[in-house]
Amino acid sequence: MERLQKVIADSGICSRRKAEQLMLEGKVKVNGQIVKALGTKVALSDRILVNEKPLPNVEYEYYVLYKPEGYISTTDDEKGRKTVVDLVPTQARIYPVGRLDFDASGVLLLTNDGAFNQAMIHPKHKIEKEYQVTVQGLLRKETSSKLSRGVYIDGKKTGRAKVRNVEYNTEKMTTRCHLIITEGRYHQVKRMFEVVNHPVLKLKRVRFGLITLEDLKKGEVRRLKPHELKQLYVLSKK
Ligand code: URA
Repeated sequence: MERLQKVIADSGICSRRKAEQLMLEGKVKVNGQIVKALGTKVALSDRILVNEKPLPNVEYEYYVLYKPEGYISTTDDEKGRKTVVDLVPTQARIYPVGRLDFDASGVLLLTNDGAFNQAMIHPKHKIEKEYQVTVQGLLRKETSSKLSRGVYIDGKKTGRAKVRNVEYNTEKMTTRCHLIITEGRYHQVKRMFEVVNHPVLKLKRVRFGLITLEDLKKGEVRRLKPHELKQLYVLSKK
C-alpha cells in the first residue's frame, strides 16, 4: 500500500504537490470514488483516474550507484547541492532507496518503484548493509562486542550487528573495520560509534544485501540485473 499522491507522482504525470492539489480539487478517483483525503493509501490493484484518465503505465527502473562524497541523497535540494539523482541518466522520476550521508560514499540503490523501495527499507525485512568505517582511536575487542550486541541510540537499542576486518593504524591512531547492520536508522553507523567514543572519520557502504561496488567506479551507475532484483526480494522476505 502506498500513498495516493505518491503513486500519482511516481507515474510521472506531475509532482507530488500537484497531485495533492488535484486530490483536494476532487479530480482524483479511486475505483470510481472521488478521494480527497491526502492520507489515503492505495494498492496496485486499485483503479486510479486523474481528470478521468488512467495513470500511464510506469516502467520501473532499478539502479545501483557508487555514490561519491558530496552528493545529497534526495531528489532535489533546497540549498542547490548536487543530488544522487543527477548521476543517473534517466527521465524517470527515480529516488534513492534509503539514504547515504552527504559525506559518505558507496552502494546506493535508486528506483521509481515504491513497493521495491518499501521492501528494501522496512526494518522488519532485515536486509544486511555493510559499511567500511574509519574511526578515531583504536577499537578494543570489548567495544566491538558491545557494538555487536547493540547500543542505545535515543533510548532504543540497535539490533545485532557484526564487526569484521578490523585493522589498526597505530601511527594515525585510527581503526578501519566493517560494520554489518540490518536497520537503517538516521545516521545509524555514525551514532553507534559515537556512543562508544570513536567518532567516524570516513564512511563507505560496501554492500546492500548482495549488491556490492564490484565493476563500478566512484560516480558510476548501472542497472540492476533481473536476478539481482529477485535475490533482493528473496532477502527481504527472509
Ligand atoms: N549510517 C550513517 O551514519 N550514515 C550513513 O550514510 C549510513 C549509515
